[in-house]
Amino acid sequence: MARVCRVSIFFLFFSFVLAISSSESDPSPAGAGAEEEFVLTLDASNFSDTVGKSSFIVVEFYAPWCGHCKNLAPEYEKAASILSKHDPPVSLAKVDANDEVNKGLAGEYDVKGFPTLKILRDGGKSIQEYKGPREADGIVEYLKRQVGPASLEIKSAEDATTLVNGKIVIVGVFSKFQGEEFENFTALAEKLRSDYSFGHTLNAGILPQGDSTVNRPVVRLFKPFDELVVDFQDFHMDAMEKFVEEASVPILTFYNKDPSNHPYVIKFFNSPNAKALLFLNVSGEHFEAFKSKYHDIAKNYKGKGVSFLLGDIEASQGAFQYFGLKDDQVPLIIIQTNDGQKYLKQNLEPDHIAPWLKEYMDGSLKPFKKSEPIPEVNNEPVKIVVADNLHDVVFSSGKNVLLEFYAPWCGHCKKLAPILDEVAVSFENEADVVIAKIDATSNDIPSDVFEVQGYPTLYFSSASGNLVQYDGINSKEDIIDFVQKNRDTVVQSDSVKDEL
Ligand SMILES: *[C@@H]1O[C@H](CO)[C@@H](O)[C@H](O)[C@H]1NC(C)=O
Ligand SMILES: *[C@@H]1O[C@H](CO)[C@@H](O)[C@H](O)[C@H]1NC(C)=O
Ligand SMILES: *[C@@H]1O[C@H](CO)[C@@H](O)[C@H](O)[C@H]1NC(C)=O
Repeated sequence: MARVCRVSIFFLFFSFVLAISSSESDPSPAGAGAEEEFVLTLDASNFSDTVGKSSFIVVEFYAPWCGHCKNLAPEYEKAASILSKHDPPVSLAKVDANDEVNKGLAGEYDVKGFPTLKILRDGGKSIQEYKGPREADGIVEYLKRQVGPASLEIKSAEDATTLVNGKIVIVGVFSKFQGEEFENFTALAEKLRSDYSFGHTLNAGILPQGDSTVNRPVVRLFKPFDELVVDFQDFHMDAMEKFVEEASVPILTFYNKDPSNHPYVIKFFNSPNAKALLFLNVSGEHFEAFKSKYHDIAKNYKGKGVSFLLGDIEASQGAFQYFGLKDDQVPLIIIQTNDGQKYLKQNLEPDHIAPWLKEYMDGSLKPFKKSEPIPEVNNEPVKIVVADNLHDVVFSSGKNVLLEFYAPWCGHCKKLAPILDEVAVSFENEADVVIAKIDATSNDIPSDVFEVQGYPTLYFSSASGNLVQYDGINSKEDIIDFVQKNRDTVVQSDSVKDEL
């Protein structure tokens, strides 16, 4: 894979929060200069050896250019130093996944973005995603729980309150810690331990809230929102897992700077549903009216293929950038479907939401497309394309078009810019070749035509409409060769009309 800046809505959502939390935290990493490093550095030469000997090791796959990895590094090191004294030992390691020699490892562990953290147990035989916090104390607390038993026995009311403290906790209530139900529950706890906390008890009376006179065995899920407690009595593995997944999604996901909401935001983005996002100022005067109306709507739409999020604009700058929104448009609601369509209503009032959603469900809303204005002057060698003229320039002009998808913040794109300029200059006298670029952060890209997973991405559309992605080396000569090889010499031919 070429050198690209990776992008996902998820990272944009969190970039603001991460920047805040890292600037507030203690900036001094454990040990300056020559002191011992607690995080192990692994590479392809010693990875399997080290992992093979470890009963429990956490591996961070990072890239040197990745900003979130840099924010994590001092926290990770601090956590490693604290955990080095833990019994049983918890090792923290890192792998530079950008390094050629380690690319195979990154592939093997399904690394799609940076940083990716994996928990490896039993000499690497069991692999789980790290789903914990990203600051030192949170990492330590989460990993201590991961290295112990998957489900903790609850023997007293104190045990219960320690375990059930504002998180999702799943407790199995049994009449004995034996039998198939208990075994299935334990297997579920093992499987989902990186996502949730688990406990088991013989005594429902010591659990907070809820009815203590239960028919045992029962699975009781505690959550800090909605109904607070839900019971379930089917001990088939699949049924239990489905129950846990469904019961742990809030009716309304709340997005602000509070990190304790973030696991639910992750669930929200991982859901297969269409996503409704309402953004407003939570300190503003109409907040309560919006929240209660929106919550009722979310409840009514449960099970109908739409998930709901309420976001504070103070925390949502990344999302605003992603959608190309401005603060003066709030309160606003946006729906994003899985095929990339977007629907928007801005300057909302609480009573607007329900009728607008009904229109969406009826299919009578028109999608909205984010586009910069079509430039009036466009006489630089590299032409500027925007969403509103992309189709005209690339597919209807009958020309050979090389189009770069870039992001203004992307360093690899900045490096490519002068090279692309030279390429454009070299084709300046050939009217049938256009070298162009589009700011993919300010313009919607038709995802059914172009697959843009990182920046820069280059596509070439020949005069006859043959579309190919360039994934060679970003040198002037290589790009020119690529254009020469793929261009059609036909201009204004019938084949162009056939495409339209
Ligand atoms: C693995 O090898 C690299 C160099 O190839 C070295 O820098 C690193 O310290 C080694 N790690 C361990 C845990 O031995
Ligand atoms: C335990 O799970 C297995 C696999 O889903 C299932 O076949 C079995 O019936 C379950 N046992 C009980 C008591 O539900
Ligand atoms: C949100 O509302 C509060 C109170 O009205 C105001 O002070 C604050 O500036 C607003 N924030 C934004 C980003 O508009």
